[in-house]
Amino acid sequence: MKEIRGKIADITKRRGIYWGAYEIYGGVSGFYDYGPVGALLKKNLLDIWLEEFVYSDGLLFIDAPAIGPDSVYKASGHVDKFTDYMVRCISCGHAFRVDELIKDFVDNPDLLTPDEIEKIIEENDVRCPDCNGKFGKVEEFHLMFSTTIGLDKRGFLRPETAQGIFINFPTLYRINREKLPMGVAQIGKAYRNEISPRQGVLRQREFNMAEIELFVDPEEKFNEELIEDIELPLLTRDGFELKINAKEAYKSGLANGYIIYYMQKILSFLKSVGIDTSKIRFRQHHREELAHYSKDTWDCEILISNGWTEVIGIAYRGDYDLKRHMESSGADMRAFRKFEKERKIRINKIVPRMEILGPRYKAAAMKIARAMEAMEFEENSVHGTLKIELDGHVYDVPEEAYEVIDVEKKVSGERFLPHVIEPSFGIDRLIYSIIEHTYYERQDTGYKVLRFPPRLAPIKVGILPLMAKDSLDSIARDIMKELRTAGINGYYDDSGSIGRRYARADEIGVPFCITVDYQTKEDNTVTIRERDSTKQKRINKDELKDTLKKLVAEEILFEEL
Ligand code: GLY
Repeated sequence: MKEIRGKIADITKRRGIYWGAYEIYGGVSGFYDYGPVGALLKKNLLDIWLEEFVYSDGLLFIDAPAIGPDSVYKASGHVDKFTDYMVRCISCGHAFRVDELIKDFVDNPDLLTPDEIEKIIEENDVRCPDCNGKFGKVEEFHLMFSTTIGLDKRGFLRPETAQGIFINFPTLYRINREKLPMGVAQIGKAYRNEISPRQGVLRQREFNMAEIELFVDPEEKFNEELIEDIELPLLTRDGFELKINAKEAYKSGLANGYIIYYMQKILSFLKSVGIDTSKIRFRQHHREELAHYSKDTWDCEILISNGWTEVIGIAYRGDYDLKRHMESSGADMRAFRKFEKERKIRINKIVPRMEILGPRYKAAAMKIARAMEAMEFEENSVHGTLKIELDGHVYDVPEEAYEVIDVEKKVSGERFLPHVIEPSFGIDRLIYSIIEHTYYERQDTGYKVLRFPPRLAPIKVGILPLMAKDSLDSIARDIMKELRTAGINGYYDDSGSIGRRYARADEIGVPFCITVDYQTKEDNTVTIRERDSTKQKRINKDELKDTLKKLVAEEILFEEL
């Protein structure tokens, strides 16, 4: 298992997929650079994500700032609750997340209290991995990076992209012409000041997320037609491992319909980007493990050399976030639910007593009285001093200056807080999982290959003249220009044997290679080689561009040529 990690670390650095950032200054753990191959891999992955989750379902796509004022993160609960448990080594002072240290001794370290963690460390004599020293007490560690906005305003780097969507709900709801369900997606960097990240790209301090917040009316019936006849691999919080049909999972109430809907979509997305579907499961969080905002969460875990690893979370956030932002900002974060038929409700109205208002407020009395008459209250909710805001003034109107009457009103609907279902994708973890799952070595030569699907592959084609002479090289360069103009990302390579050149291409997952040989000069054909089968077919040069476009878009398969 460790062996594959070493091999992948070698390819990712040597071939420009990613590497530890700030290397010339000794590196800073938890930060990575994507290189020329990796940056395109990420871009293509996100393009596929947009196609499969955003365009296909008509979601809104936004881009909000990464730094936010502390009011946002106080309201979201992150200032108070976004912490991890850590311990420090008494001898060398190094700090560690406790879940990493004790994961071999308990099934789910996230369920434990500090006392229980200390007991497990003591009983199992867990020592510092760096110096074998003993650990001190369990401490809480805050995970947000704080910063200063301008001279003295406290701000935070977002720990999730989600809040940028929640705080924009009223605007987005209007743009969506007040329709629910409304899905809003965002892709961007998020930041968590991890205590001491030691798991490579799997735990970063600055990382890439792609998130969807699906706003729904909790009273609206779920459309069962969204559920397909497919099998879902589940691990419930009671420890049941099930392969269950999605329709059955929905009927038996195992999870909210939209959570099941997203499980289906995630399975098909992961397959399309090269993940081995036999190594995927959806694990339900234990109640004690749920994030502060969540009522139910299912993690999509992928089996890699580190074990089952959380890559995507699907959380039922209820109305937690909208409610908190409404209470905290005063903005109305509610949606409107139209009744099937107009309803009659009883409300309270105010009748001003002019004999008191007149002498008290003089010239302003009439205006204040009109404002009071326009007010509506829920039954039995008016008493005491009323605050009337007029022309920038607030008038405190005492109880004796008005009477309350009970009247009937017709209403066409009501305002309510939508609930939220959130699929949240850890893009860097997904990239690592894709690399592990697509990596293999050829049986005959031992050469390394990344089996990236063509749509995902950062580089689609290598153009290789058999010899760098006899005009084979200039024909190949012309082909490269034509393909690049057509938007197909390729490169020209004439150095070394053709076998070495294929091997170089395979190692970064180039799905197709074009070879220009002496026959090209005779009959205008080139060979096209498919990476995994290593099979070659001859194709007319004039058809190359259109054929390759279809192959890289996965509209046709190589076998169909
Ligand atoms: N928004 C989900 C998360 O932060 O994990």
